[in-house]
Amino acid sequence: MTTYAPPPQPLALFGPAFAADPQGHYRALREHGPLAPVRIAPDVEALLVTDYQAAIDLLRDTHTFSKDPRTWQATIPPDSPVLPVLGHRPTALFSDGAVHARYREAINDSLALIEPHILRAEVARVARQLIGRFAATGSGDLIAQYARRLPMHIFVTWFGADPKDGERIVDGVAGMMNSAADAATAYADLVDVVTRLVADRRARPRRDLTSYFLAHPAGLDNDETVRQITLVMSAGNDPMTNLIGNATLHMLTDERYAGSLHGGAMTAHEAINEVLWRDPPIANLAAHYPRHDTEFHGVRLRAGQLVLVSYAAANSQSPPPVTDDGLRSGASAHLAWSAGPHRCPAKQPALLIAMTAIEQLTSLLCDARLAVPPDELLWRPGPFHRALAHLPIRFTPLDTTAAPSGAITVADPSDVIPAAAIDS
Ligand code: HEM
Repeated sequence: MTTYAPPPQPLALFGPAFAADPQGHYRALREHGPLAPVRIAPDVEALLVTDYQAAIDLLRDTHTFSKDPRTWQATIPPDSPVLPVLGHRPTALFSDGAVHARYREAINDSLALIEPHILRAEVARVARQLIGRFAATGSGDLIAQYARRLPMHIFVTWFGADPKDGERIVDGVAGMMNSAADAATAYADLVDVVTRLVADRRARPRRDLTSYFLAHPAGLDNDETVRQITLVMSAGNDPMTNLIGNATLHMLTDERYAGSLHGGAMTAHEAINEVLWRDPPIANLAAHYPRHDTEFHGVRLRAGQLVLVSYAAANSQSPPPVTDDGLRSGASAHLAWSAGPHRCPAKQPALLIAMTAIEQLTSLLCDARLAVPPDELLWRPGPFHRALAHLPIRFTPLDTTAAPSGAITVADPSDVIPAAAIDS
């Protein structure tokens, strides 16, 4: 059996050095075995799984590992910047067994109401409006002006939120993932917006996903509903932004795409699949805690200690991952959507949103190219995501006199959620 020496110091997975070269960090960690110690904040250590098979084993092993962080959390400073992401909340993400199944059913059933062709049309409509706001200028930042805003507008429609709260929702979600000092405030603000929304729909149901959550047979009370909706928005918005941003960057920089959005022969679909392998939007997460002292893939684990999975490292393992079922290849084997009971429940709508968002860019801003050299792009700090801070582009200005350029109009949720799904 191979024995591995731990690194002299846990490697820091936060700050500019990590953001500039995550794959270099994963290569260094692999030298120390399938799991290696890391720091995810100045005073917070974790074990990071970098091996594909170990990642799969952990994600599926609900007997050995729990998702409940409370024992670990008691050992962490209460103002730690990682707590808005890792700290316990009564949601699917932090629950096991029957509790998880109950929350997950409400989430799955609500996402199943989304009709793909209606979603595609709605994403295209919002995309054209967002592009219309900057198309006449010949330049724009595709993160701030497009990728960060588009998913939020879709969620605002799904849940029937007041469009005026949309900016607070997107700021709350992005602030949580940054693991910066104001992360706790960002989460509190998000909860505040959704709490008012849920109280309103309890009193006055409408045909939207908030009312559907409240009416679901799982019988969620107001707080449980607030927490699950907040989870869907926070688990959804930031990775959606990153998927659109990372795949668009890939198209703008990979020579097969010829340096402009419409120049190459490959499709948005292929660009998305490649970044799900190479630059997954959620890079390191799947926080798990051993229920008892144990040994896992040759490494001693203490009960309650924090173990994270590096989706990005497992995906980029070389030679390619070999699983129990033999060598896997093809897009479905990457871990960007996680695996096991907590895998992303929104893979299909998320792919559709990303694909449609990028197709609208390629058709409207077909000669768009990067406005700065790729090595001058900044990535947001933080251990959990792979997220561009900006994506500046230039293109031939469009005549937008006939196009909408003012406030983004929000569809009535009852136009987006099929009537039969909610009224029955
Ligand atoms: C419509 C957009 C999305 C929604 C509504 C959404 C929703 C969710 C929810 C509710 C969970 C928690 C599931 C549970 O604990 O049982 C989850 C988990 C997850 N989602 Fe998504 N998601 C979206 C987009 C994405 C995207 C674009 C990615 C990345 C490609 C992604 C990757 C993941 C991963 C990796 C997890 C596991 C989290 C962990 O590591 O603990 N999701 N998602």
